[in-house]
Parts: sequence; structure tokens; C-alpha cells
Amino acid sequence: MSSPLKFAGPELDDATIAGVAEVLRSGHLASGPWVRAFETQLSAFCAGRPVRVLTSATAAIEVALQLAGIGPGAEVITSAQSFFTVLNMIAKVGAKPVFVDCDLVTRNIDLTQVEAAITPATRAIIPTHFPGTLVDMDALHALARRHKLRVIEDAALVVGSRWKGRNVGAFGDLVTFSFHPNKNITSIEGGALVVNDEVEAAHVEALRFHGIVTLPDGTRDVAFPGGKFNLPDVNARIGHAQLARLPEFLAKRRRLVDRYFARFATDPACMLPPQPRGGDDGYSWNMFCVLLPLDRLRSSRRELRDALAARGIATGVSYEALHLCTLGRRYGGHEGQFRNAERIARETVTLPLHTAMTEADVDRVCAVVAETIAGARR
Ligand SMILES: Cc1ncc(COP(=O)(O)O)c(C=O)c1O
Repeated sequence: MSSPLKFAGPELDDATIAGVAEVLRSGHLASGPWVRAFETQLSAFCAGRPVRVLTSATAAIEVALQLAGIGPGAEVITSAQSFFTVLNMIAKVGAKPVFVDCDLVTRNIDLTQVEAAITPATRAIIPTHFPGTLVDMDALHALARRHKLRVIEDAALVVGSRWKGRNVGAFGDLVTFSFHPNKNITSIEGGALVVNDEVEAAHVEALRFHGIVTLPDGTRDVAFPGGKFNLPDVNARIGHAQLARLPEFLAKRRRLVDRYFARFATDPACMLPPQPRGGDDGYSWNMFCVLLPLDRLRSSRRELRDALAARGIATGVSYEALHLCTLGRRYGGHEGQFRNAERIARETVTLPLHTAMTEADVDRVCAVVAETIAGARR
């Protein structure tokens, strides 16, 4: 069997690893100078908007909800097609998740359905941006302004995507990033929250560290229950080095994705993500997810994934339908509610995509996928 191909993974260089050793020797094992340096670098990336780093995007979403004052009695509209964390954090702060469907190809939240789901209790929208086309930012923010809603962008998958030339995070309301090892850049675990001003940033600092504020006389106070989400310096050191390499990582991912599109063009059995528009379209590609033609096959997705794994190709599933998990059903989720989110949940497969891959690896994945599908036709 040829060498196994994992479906995601980071690229860490020797200088970063040496940098981590320096941090370990420095005595700053919790948050210190590298956290501040990483935040300054991220803020520059977000056109000067304040950014605070946290231990994950999950923590960033929870803190964003708390910052926006969202809790019991509030409704938050989100897509039924996203990662569990969005549902979890809305429920965790005591608010009610209200799901809408997504587009079948872009997988982004259907904004026309958002409008219809707004009630007097709605306080916020959490759209997850999928790789490729972003959620329509002009329409999203116009809608939010019209209804006086907060927007918490889940930008975990699109660090480095641009909307009309501007980085995701450089504008809007609250924006969250993930630096999990599968994302465009990593700090091992880690995330960030982009806010509107220094008052919000100070509030985030308290929310991520026990709710503590330091008073002018140097004593400390806690006025609300904060969490413990501060990022250690070791992680910030890695994130800092990774952000400097983001353009290089995105260019590599783009080349691999171009190859996937070229190869799949000759084998149209699977439904593909939105086609790149060519040139500088602002798209970034954290994942390459296709829909399998299961209605024309004898095999289940599990069997197909096992067949690919047996040939050394690891795959993932992004994502299950949120309204159909046990927690989602507690908020009224049921089968047949969101056609596109459910179809994606049934048919999607995430193919390998990471910067250590070559175009020959993509060719191999596509050949194995094509053979596996051909062998499973009814
Ligand atoms: C779309 C999306 N949002 C948020 C998250 C949460 O990121 P983290 O693992 O940093 O909490 C993930 C994680 O995979 C994700 O895929």
C-alpha cells in the first residue's frame, strides 16, 4: 500500500520549534509577551481592530456571546450546517439556538431564511463561513443593522479569506478565528476574537480570565463570572510564526484545490464546492469537501470511507446537521426541516488537504475516489 495520507495537519518549521524551546526557558509559561505580540500581529491583520487570543475558537464564541450580553431569553440564529460548537455555545450561555438552512453548494447560511426567523427575542446571528465563497458580508451586515442584531462571525475555517479585498476580521462586528491544528494556521489549540473597540477588548480580557479587573489602587475585583481561557505563551509563539507564513500556506492550499477541481472536472460524480473564480478571488481553502452520489451507489458513506482508508486515504465528515443531534432536537430540530443541511450531513466527505501534500497526492486521492465510486455503482 502507498504511504498513508492524513486529511489535515499543520506545517511547523524548525525555527518555530526552536522558538518554543526559548519560550519554555524564558519563564513565561502562562500568557506573557508572546500573547501581546500575537495580538498585535493579528490586530494589524485585521486593519487595526482590537484582537484578543483565547484557548480556542469555542472559547472565543462563548466569550463573544457573553460580551454581547446574550443569555436566557435571547434567541440566536445560526445555520443547521456547522460545527457542534456553535450550537453548544449558544445553549451553554442559556440562549435559544434558532436554525435556518444553508446553500447546498457554498454551505453558507441562507440569509433569506434568517430574515424570516427573526423574532422580538432575536439578539444575534452566528454565520459560519465555509471555504471558498464567504457569506455575503454586505447583505449580512445590512440585515443585522436593519434589525439591530449583533453578528458573531464564525471564521474558524477562513483565516486569510478576503471580502472585496479586505481580510475577514478587518471589518464587521465580532469575528472569531480558530488556530486548531487542522486550520489554515495553528497555535496547536487556540483562537481569537476580534472586537470593535478597547472597551470591548477590556471586557474580553476579564471574561477570559476569571472575570478579574484590576482597580486603580491595584486591588482586584470580580463583578461577573469569567472563565479561564487565556492562551499560554508557547501557543502564542507558534501562532505568531504561523501567521507570518499564512500567504505561503494559502498559496499551497490553493494549488492543491485547483488540482482537485481539474481532476474532478473529468469525473463529475461528486458535487464540488464553489469553483474558484480565478485570479485574486479572496477565497481560502481550509477543507475540500465533496458530496458523494450515494443515491446512485450500493455502498454507504461509511463503507466508502473505509474503502478509502484501506487504500491509505484518510477522510473526515464536516459537518453533521446541528438540528438533528440530541441537543439540537431539544430545540425542536427534526428530520426534513432543512433539506440542504441534511443532505450535506448525509453525503459529505472531507478529502485530504494540507500543505505537506503534493499535486501527485491529489491525483492519487482522486484516482482512488473515482475507482471506489465506480466499484460501488448500482
Ligand atoms: C466551523 C468551526 N467553527 C468553530 C470551530 C471550533 O474551533 P476550536 O477547535 O478552535 O474551538 C471549529 C472546529 O473545528 C469549526 O470547524
